[in-house]
Amino acid sequence: MTSILGISAFYHDSAAALVIDGKIIAAAQEERFSRKKHDSSYPYNAVQYVLSEAKLKLSQINHIVFFEKPFLKFERLLETYLAFAPSGFKSFSLSMPIWLREKLFQKKYLFDNLKEHDDHFNDIDKINFSEHHYSHAASAFYPSPFEEAIILTLDGVGEWATTTVSIGKKNEIKIIKEINFPHSLGLIYSAFTYYTGFKVNSGEYKVMGLAPYGEPKYKDIIVNNLMDIKDDGSFRLDMSYFNYATGLTMTNKKFSNLFGQPVRDPNKNPLTQFHMDIAASIQAVTEEIVLKISQSIASEYKIKNLCLAGGVALNCVANGKILKNKIFDNIWIQPAAGDAGGSLGAALAYWHKELGQPRDIFKDQMKGSYLGPSFNEEEVEKELKLLKANYKKVNSENLIEIIANELNKEKTIGWFQGKMEFGPRALGGRSIIADPRSEKMQKELNLKVKFRESFRPFAPSILIEDVSNWFDLKNESPYMLLVADLKKELQIQMSKEDQTLFGIDKLNIKRSSIPAVTHVDYSARVQTVHKETNPRYHNLLKKFKEITGCPVLVNTSFNVRGEPIVCSIKDAFNCFMGTNLDILVCENFILYKNDQDDSLKKNYQMEFDPD
Ligand SMILES: [Fe+2]
Repeated sequence: MTSILGISAFYHDSAAALVIDGKIIAAAQEERFSRKKHDSSYPYNAVQYVLSEAKLKLSQINHIVFFEKPFLKFERLLETYLAFAPSGFKSFSLSMPIWLREKLFQKKYLFDNLKEHDDHFNDIDKINFSEHHYSHAASAFYPSPFEEAIILTLDGVGEWATTTVSIGKKNEIKIIKEINFPHSLGLIYSAFTYYTGFKVNSGEYKVMGLAPYGEPKYKDIIVNNLMDIKDDGSFRLDMSYFNYATGLTMTNKKFSNLFGQPVRDPNKNPLTQFHMDIAASIQAVTEEIVLKISQSIASEYKIKNLCLAGGVALNCVANGKILKNKIFDNIWIQPAAGDAGGSLGAALAYWHKELGQPRDIFKDQMKGSYLGPSFNEEEVEKELKLLKANYKKVNSENLIEIIANELNKEKTIGWFQGKMEFGPRALGGRSIIADPRSEKMQKELNLKVKFRESFRPFAPSILIEDVSNWFDLKNESPYMLLVADLKKELQIQMSKEDQTLFGIDKLNIKRSSIPAVTHVDYSARVQTVHKETNPRYHNLLKKFKEITGCPVLVNTSFNVRGEPIVCSIKDAFNCFMGTNLDILVCENFILYKNDQDDSLKKNYQMEFDPD
C-alpha cells in the first residue's frame, strides 16, 4: 500500500488530500475546520481529518507532496521587484520578511508543522514539491474520465505560469505552452474585482454574477488599451495600468482615468449601472480569451476532450460558452479548481509521474467531490443533545416525503447529509435548499438567510434525467461549473425596461418558471444530480418532482455571507439558529425552527467579515 498526502498552503485556500494506491480517499479545505474563510495557514485540521479517514498516522504516510515550489516562486518575486525597482520596494519590504521566515525555508517549516501530528515522523526526505500549474493540471486530468485530453489551467499566478496548455495521455501530462507572470487572466479579472469594490480572491464570483445586469460597453477600451490579444488567445498586458507587480493595490490612477471613475469604495458607493457594465465588459473579454485559446488548441491538437482547472476555471459562464460553441465534445472541470485542489493534484501527480503508476480510468474518480467529513446517526444525535436542540428522528423514506412537502410550502431548509464537498460549491451535502418556482425566494434567501446582496443569483440542482428538458445542456454538470440557458418554452418575457433596471424590488419580477435560479438573461449555473454519487439528494428531487412536476431545487451553500460552508453539526446548528432558515435536516433528524428554544437563537448577521 502506498499512501500520498498532498498539501496546499500559505497562499489562498489551504487544503489536504490523501491518495492511497492511486485512489482518492479524502480531501478537505482548512477553512471548514478553522472557520476562517480562505484560511491559508498550515492545514493542521485538514491533515488530521484525511489521516483519520484512512486510520493512518503521519509517520505511516509514504510520501508528502506540497503543491508548488517555493524557491521558484521566490525567484519570481525577486525578479519582479528588481525589474520594477524602486517602485516595487514598498511591497517588497513588506513581503520579504514573511518569505524569508516562512516560505523560502518551507521544507523545514513544513517538517516542523508535520511533526505536530506525530512525534514519530522524522523523515524530512518524505517531503516533495510539485509545480503549481502542474498540480492544477494533474487535478484536472487524472480524475477525469478521459484517456486523452487537452488540459487548460488558468489562474492568477503560481510560480511563473499563469496559463498553461498540456496534453494528457494515459498517465502522462506534458506541458506544451505557457503564459507567464505578469500577463495573467486571473489577475486582470482580480484587478476589475478590485476596481468594482469587491474583495480580490473571493469577489470574482460577484463580478461574474453582476455581469448579466450590464452591457459590455467597455470591452473595446479594455482590449485596445490594457492588453494585446493574439489570434490564438495568448495575450500580454500593458503593465502601466496595473499595480499588482509592484504595489499593494491591483490597479492605479491611469486605470481609473481610462474608465473615468475611481475605485469603488463598497462602504460609501453603491453599485451602479457603470459597475455592471464594467463587470459585463471584463466578463466578455475573459470569455473571448478562453474561447480563442480553446479554439486554437482544439484545432492544433485535434483532441476532443478538455480538462480545466485553476481559479479561472470556476468562471462557469466562460466554461458554458466553450460547450455551447462545440469546441470540444467533452469537458471535465476539477470541482476544487482553485488552489485547494492543488493538494489533490500534487498527490496524484506524484503517484503517476514520480512513481510511474498507470491510471485506472473510470467515470468519477472524484466521487461527486463528496470527500470530506461525515457523521453517523449516533454522532449526530449526541451532538444535537449537547446543543440542546429539539429534533425529530424519522426513517429515510419519511424524511424525503416530509422535506419535499415542506419545500413545496416555500420553506427554506438547511440540508446536511453525508460527506462534505471538496471545493467551493455545495452540491447537496452542505446545502441550503428551497423551491425555485417561488417568486419571493431569491430575495428572501439573499436578505434573510445569506445576509448578502439581493442581486446574487442562486443555482439550480436538477435530476440528470431531466436536464435536457429544462436547459440547453446535453452534458453532465455534476460540479455546478457550467452555465446553460433555460429552454425557450420555459422563458417568460419581461420588458426591456425591467431587464435593464437594477434594484431590490425589480428582482421580484417573474422572469421564468423557476425565477429563483435563473438570471436576467435566462441563464443558470446548473448542477446535475446523479443517483450514483448522491442517492439521497436524487431521491429528494424525484419526490419534489412527483409532487410539483418540477425536478429542480434551489441549491446554495450552507453558510452566511463571509462564513465558510458548514462542516460539523454544530456549525450547521449555529447557522440555522442565526438565520431565518425554517428547517434543519441532519441525516435522519429534522429540526423545526419553531420548536427550538428562543434563547439559543443567535445574531449571526454580523458574525463574519463580509467577503
Ligand atoms: Fe493556482
